[in-house]
Amino acid sequence: MTSFWSIWVIVLTLACLALIFGLLIWNLKNYTGVEEGASCGHEFDGIEELNNPLPKWWTYMFFATFVWSVYYLAMYPGLGNFVGLLGWTSSNQGVTSLEESKQAILEAKDKGLWVQLDKEFEAADERFGPIFKAFAEQDVLTLANDSEALEIGQRLYAQNCAQCHGSDARGGLGFPNLTDKDWLYGGNPEQIKETLLQGRVAAMPGWEAALGEQGVKEMTAYVLSLSGRKVNQKDADAGQSKFAMCAACHGMDGKGSVAHNLPFGAPDLTDNIWLYGGSQRAVEESVRHGRAGVMPAWKDILGEDKVHLLTAYVYSLSQDK
Ligand code: HEC
Ligand code: HEC
Repeated sequence: MTSFWSIWVIVLTLACLALIFGLLIWNLKNYTGVEEGASCGHEFDGIEELNNPLPKWWTYMFFATFVWSVYYLAMYPGLGNFVGLLGWTSSNQGVTSLEESKQAILEAKDKGLWVQLDKEFEAADERFGPIFKAFAEQDVLTLANDSEALEIGQRLYAQNCAQCHGSDARGGLGFPNLTDKDWLYGGNPEQIKETLLQGRVAAMPGWEAALGEQGVKEMTAYVLSLSGRKVNQKDADAGQSKFAMCAACHGMDGKGSVAHNLPFGAPDLTDNIWLYGGSQRAVEESVRHGRAGVMPAWKDILGEDKVHLLTAYVYSLSQDK
């Protein structure tokens, strides 16, 4: 609130309170000149108006609400920008970034301001923590054949991963299929676990500036030809002659980072499996503007024990049963 509106609210609120208080005091006095309990001299259809004061309990209640309002405004935020003597805030007030949110959670915990959800998480950790721990001590390959472990893994998957990779884990545009053997970052247990713990950020630059309009067309033709598509051969040859600029990540043969033991997550361009679509238009878009898929890191969110189980689950998805 700007200080103008803050002052506006304060003045209005206090003026209102003063007015109400004045009215209350004023009403305690008999200002009519008529004796208490006597007639005011008005009569309607035999019903007479007497000069009766407010009942005592009613008056006390008025005073009580008044005292409460003054206490409330003094202790809690609400009076303009005044934060209140108790320093109370609703937990997320003023939190605008992830960092601030994390900090606010830590501070709230320090102050003992545990909310219901935290307590439930803690209770769940106490109850299920040992189960996850026991699984975490077995290796991924063992767990990948343990139906109980996979069932838990599947539930963790449904809660945390399905919104991006799909409930059947077959992915979608920009979200890799986890059930095939086509990996961006590698499909052995260590690599999968690394992906889950630390997250992955893909950085495929855009090539429009470097290649120019014609160059993008030619490169697109070459990329499509890699997976056996029919293209204009002249364009494809021209694209191939510049493919060295792509080789650092995709490899000179275009078979992708995993095939060359590189950490970049660049897809195999020769297998006709497409992360962003295999139409000429989609490939051209990839080449022209680049792509930057982000897989979130789960280490802090789920903890290593749950990630271990998830690793086994993800690993099992691509194994032939
Ligand atoms: C917000 C969306 C999102 C969520 C939620 C998400 N992922 Fe991902 N994940 C991605 C994206 C995007 C990529 C691809 C990153 C890239 O383009 O390089 C990815 C990549 C991966 C990979 C690497 C695949 C490969 O081919 O190497 C694995 C494994 C994976 N995710 C598993 C999971 C699991 C398990 C979960 C749940 C704990 C999860 N993801 C949750 C978006 C998500
Ligand atoms: C710095 C490493 C790097 C370089 C250099 C690079 N790429 Fe990529 N490329 C990637 C990564 C990483 C992805 C995956 C992007 C994602 O997952 O969001 C990708 C994705 C793609 C895709 C989309 C594939 C799909 O399955 O949808 C195409 C097409 C592509 N690159 C072509 C090229 C071409 C052509 C060049 C050279 C002009 C090139 N790349 C150079 C890293 C690179």
